[in-house]
Amino acid sequence: MNHLISCTIDFVKEKLHGAEAGHDWFHIERVWKLSKKIAETENCNLEVVELSALLHDIADPKFHGGNETLALKISQDFLENQNVSNAVIEQVLFIIQNISFKNRGEAPKDLPIELKIVQDADRLDAMGAIGIARTFNFGGFKNNLMYHPEIPPKLNMTKEEYKKNEGTTINHFYEKLLLLKDLMNTEKGKELAQERHDFMQKFLDEFYKEWNVT
Ligand code: ADP
Ligand code: NI
Repeated sequence: MNHLISCTIDFVKEKLHGAEAGHDWFHIERVWKLSKKIAETENCNLEVVELSALLHDIADPKFHGGNETLALKISQDFLENQNVSNAVIEQVLFIIQNISFKNRGEAPKDLPIELKIVQDADRLDAMGAIGIARTFNFGGFKNNLMYHPEIPPKLNMTKEEYKKNEGTTINHFYEKLLLLKDLMNTEKGKELAQERHDFMQKFLDEFYKEWNVT
């Protein structure tokens, strides 16, 4: 592994020490590995992909009082210290700024392939068995209800509504997780998403069956 990548890994591990389990180093490690797997099937700048995957959640606004520029500042300072070229820094910061599901309405139209790859990897980690586990962990962290039969999901929320949504964890499946399959950018991402999507659907069927004791 090259020196810059191993320094970035050490930096991210230290920064995310004690983070919520769905947004900790292990989330980053999975997204990094998935990004590399998808990158093998695309023509792209691998250094930009790896750095963006490693730094994309360095300061998630939901855990930093809504601050949406802190991650950019931390990443920029780190990369400058590592003498990374300005051209690469610019690409990585653009990805960190535009990768998020809640910002998808504001993102520019023609996205670089490196962003598409890391976004697919991040979205894949929100799906399947890991996605289910992360979602319930986050719901518990926020003390949200798992499910309420009379609270319907809110589709088409604005970014502001999405951020302060205190709905149930099951509703999050309809508000985000089940939408991800059709938002995949790359062919490899689409292929990997299908299996994870089907698994979430099976989980929900089983959840309602067990909830509705007859
Ligand atoms: P992004 O980080 O791409 O903007 P989100 O912040 O919406 O995406 O969510 C990242 C992950 O955090 C989700 O995939 C999910 O696991 C968890 N999460 C976010 N919001 C909720 C919620 N309201 N209920 C349960 N889990 C959530
Ligand atoms: Ni992430």
